[in-house]
Amino acid sequence: MPFALSPERDRELAEILSRYPNRQAACIPMLHLCQEQNGWVSDEVVEFVARTLELPSAHVLGVVTFYTLFNQQPVGRHQVWVCRTLSCALRGSDELLRHCEKKLGVHAGETTKGGEVTLRTAECLASCGTAPMMQIDKNYHENLSIAEVDRLLDRLLAGG
Ligand code: FES
Repeated sequence: MPFALSPERDRELAEILSRYPNRQAACIPMLHLCQEQNGWVSDEVVEFVARTLELPSAHVLGVVTFYTLFNQQPVGRHQVWVCRTLSCALRGSDELLRHCEKKLGVHAGETTKGGEVTLRTAECLASCGTAPMMQIDKNYHENLSIAEVDRLLDRLLAGG
């Protein structure tokens, strides 16, 4: 089935398009808008964006595959990103990641059985001074301990 934006998001798109000098420049914000609605960037979303912005589908797909923040497959209702770059690694991110994997019963890149959480790793999220850190959906959680990670994951798994 072809993808279409909701009326509310369609209005947001019009506002986004008005901010850019040409349609191609709106590709990334439009993809974010579509992903917010759909949860991931399906082939139908790629076609929709390409058609709307008058771009080749290959161009849109190139953007989607370059940026890791675009989901190329369905994901859980929440996404947990554990930063693994140097500052976080030096302050125990590997241990945090192993703990997340054990607690959630999945490996990085996988989604829990009930579809609640997708666990992922990230390159530096620009919060090195408060390492180790992770991002849950749009929120940063910093200076993490195993106990704090437990509390955060318990809340997610409980539907919070
Ligand atoms: S290394 Fe983790 S936020 Fe920069």
